[in-house]
Order: sequence, then C-alpha cells, then structure tokens
Amino acid sequence: MLFDHPCSNKNDAFLSRTMAQAEQCRVSAVDCRRNANVQVPCSSIAYSNSSLKRQAHYVMCRPQHFAVQYSINPWMNPDAWAANACILTQAAGLQWQRLYDALLTQGAQVEIFEAAPDLPDLVFTANAAVVVDRKALLARFRHPQRRLEEPVFARALHHMRLQGALDVVEEFPKDLVLEGAGDCIWDRERNHFWLGFGQRSDRASQQAIVDFFESDCVALELADPRFYHLDTAFCPLPFGEIIYYPAAFTDAARRAIENRVPPSRQILLGEEDAAKFAANSIAFGRLILMSSCSTKLRRQLEERQYTVIATPLHAFLRAGGSACCLTLRIDHKRSAAPCLESATSHAPTAAP
Ligand code: ARG
Repeated sequence: MLFDHPCSNKNDAFLSRTMAQAEQCRVSAVDCRRNANVQVPCSSIAYSNSSLKRQAHYVMCRPQHFAVQYSINPWMNPDAWAANACILTQAAGLQWQRLYDALLTQGAQVEIFEAAPDLPDLVFTANAAVVVDRKALLARFRHPQRRLEEPVFARALHHMRLQGALDVVEEFPKDLVLEGAGDCIWDRERNHFWLGFGQRSDRASQQAIVDFFESDCVALELADPRFYHLDTAFCPLPFGEIIYYPAAFTDAARRAIENRVPPSRQILLGEEDAAKFAANSIAFGRLILMSSCSTKLRRQLEERQYTVIATPLHAFLRAGGSACCLTLRIDHKRSAAPCLESATSHAPTAAP
C-alpha cells in the first residue's frame, strides 16, 4: 500500500499534544467520554441561532459514542483504536467541536441530534439520507453494524420535518442499498446528482434517485476499497470545479467525469492529499473546510478564489471519515434551469 495507514498518524501534532495532556492528567476512560461530550446543549435536536442569515444548513451528531469498534473499511482498526481509546475519544470530541465552531463562525446553520450508545458511526451524518428540495430519502446501509443507525437517522429527520426544516422524509426501497449523501452528491452547478457505486451503494439506486427527486443522476463506479464512498474521493465545489482523486474510479467513471467537467474545472488530487481525505471537504460559498491541505492544493484552490480552512479531523480518519462525512447538508435546491448534461438515456431532466 502506498499510503501510510492512518493509524500511524506520524505527523499528528494535535493528537500528540492531546496525548501528552491526557497522560499528564491521567484521565480515566469515563473522563474521556465526558470530554468528548462537548459543550453544545443537547436536547433531541438543538437548533442553532438562526436569526443570522445563514448560507448553508447542516445536520451533525456529536461524537460522544464515536469509536472504532468494528472494521468495515480499510481505515478501521479496532485494536489500534483500543490501544489509545481514551486519548482518541478526547481528540475526536475536540476536533468535532472545532469543525462545528468553524461552521457556525463562517455563517452556516447547524442542527444537532443526539448520539446513541453502541452506534459509533452515527456521527457520520452524511450517510443519513440524500436531501434536496426539502425532500429526504433515507439511507439503506450495506453492513449490519450500520443498519442499526437507520431508525435513529429516520427519527432525527422526521423530527426536523415536524420542526419545519424538511417537507418529505421517505424510506429507501427495501431491496436496494444507498448510503445517503456519502454516495449520492448533489452538484449545484450542474443541477444533478453524482452517485458512487460498487463499494457500498448499488448501481440500481440510480433509478430510485431519479424517480424520487426527478433529477438526473450520473453513476460513477468506485475502484479502490480505501475510497469506499464517493465523498471520500470526489467533491463538487459551489462554482463548478470538481476536486477528485482519479485512481479511486474505474476508467469508465473517469471518462464520465471528463465528459462532463472541462479540464480547467478539474482539480486532481495527488496521493498524499487523497489519503488525508482532502476530497472529503465541506464547501459553501467561497469556503472549503477540510482536515488538512497540501500547499499545492491550497494554491490551486486559492487561485480559483476559494478560501481553505484546515481543521484537523485525524481521529475520524481512523474510521474512514472526515469533514464532509460529519455533516449532512439539507438546504440544497435544484435550480429552475433545465439540466444540460443528461446523465443516462432514461433519466428525466430536472423539472423547470
Ligand atoms: N466508518 C464509517 C463507514 O465505514 C465511515 C463513514 C464515513 N462516511 C462517509 N460519508 N464517507 O461506514
């Protein structure tokens, strides 16, 4: 394998600082859990101050039960987690809080729903559902460990519907797997979805998306188990550029991207950025939040008038996740203009 396994985390200054602090204080596992339980008030859903005009609207779940307890992707090593569980739990709490704070500071609105014991991956809310035009299509998971999250995500989104943040929340067809916005990403500029399939989600989910949202959906086959969700290797930016890691895709999928995105709008990741999940970014307006960013990538993004905020999320990389996975955006809207780039011959174009 060309990449350092994330558990090595050689350069994680933040984590070593946290380790040193924790060792000094001899914090117990219980204290660590408490520390991970960061200061955001928690009712079943906590609504953030929405009196400001917020530019993007997200759902997150605090990481107080986050851990690596099983392995369903190559990044997850429960033994390595267990060896430093206390420190890593504490790091996850702090890193999550910094991401949350950065989103609020930069003008996003964030809803929080309560974490649940024994669901360590619930923190990855991108996998809860696909949401566009105030309609949510709930996820169906491939692995039994994550299937247990389905009713919790369903409850949280129905609660949001009752609070007026969504109009429709619907179940995904029983015989298909689609792991929410982790594998089905809205491209605001092109006015269609991109679907990742072949690792977690089924290709046949494409039609379910087209039918439910009445919007086009371009299917891309994923080729590398390390990039098992589309959002680990692919990120459409608000002004039409796409950040992606070509080696994560089959030849056909690369061609599908190249046919729709002119070279000037393709931002190709090198191995190093890809392995740090730079594609797993949160982008709204001219802002891009990610765990870490090489000088070269930062330059490429700044040349295109984006501002990069790096907020370390190494503890989550141990579960195969990063910034984008920790959020579910719920305010995407189709534009009124018809979609020019048809995804499949059978797919209807977006309604006017
Ligand atoms: N451990 C989780 C899994 O393997 C991580 C999910 C990350 N989410 C994402 N949208 N990429 O399912």
